[in-house]
Amino acid sequence: MERTFVILKPNAVRRGLIGEILKRFEQRGIKIVGLKFLWMTKEQCEKLYEPHLGKPFYNELVEFMMGGPVVAIVLEAPRVIEMVRHIVGATDPLKAEAGTIRGEFALTVTKNLIHASDSLENAQREMSIFFTEDEIINYNLDI
Ligand code: CMP
Repeated sequence: MERTFVILKPNAVRRGLIGEILKRFEQRGIKIVGLKFLWMTKEQCEKLYEPHLGKPFYNELVEFMMGGPVVAIVLEAPRVIEMVRHIVGATDPLKAEAGTIRGEFALTVTKNLIHASDSLENAQREMSIFFTEDEIINYNLDI
């Protein structure tokens, strides 16, 4: 079964959107298998955004992500990487379709509320920054 990694960014927490966002995954039948509420360390932040090191938005992004607590989540479902990115919407909220999380609630690219892995390789890399394998919970969903 495929897994993906998601972070609810500090503005999602500060705006009281944790429940709203989790609801959208749960109501779609996606299983939450990892869940942590934390304040990211500089090391975690630099590892997460290592592919963006040197880009013009990097410093602003790191500062923003370390400015408040976040929710780190591992989700499990068939084709969950693509499914979650579909539910989340385009990176730039201006381009995010109505009905997506960013399309409904986000205004700017940096404060786009949520990060979701874009590939199997990145999902594995990103979840390993925040979760050990025994922190991923194995159970069956009821129907
Ligand atoms: P995220 O999914 O967390 O992955 C990288 C983040 O960089 C992205 O969401 C945005 O918050 C942020 N970002 C800021 N500016 C840009 C940009 N011009 N292009 C892409 N990502 C950007």
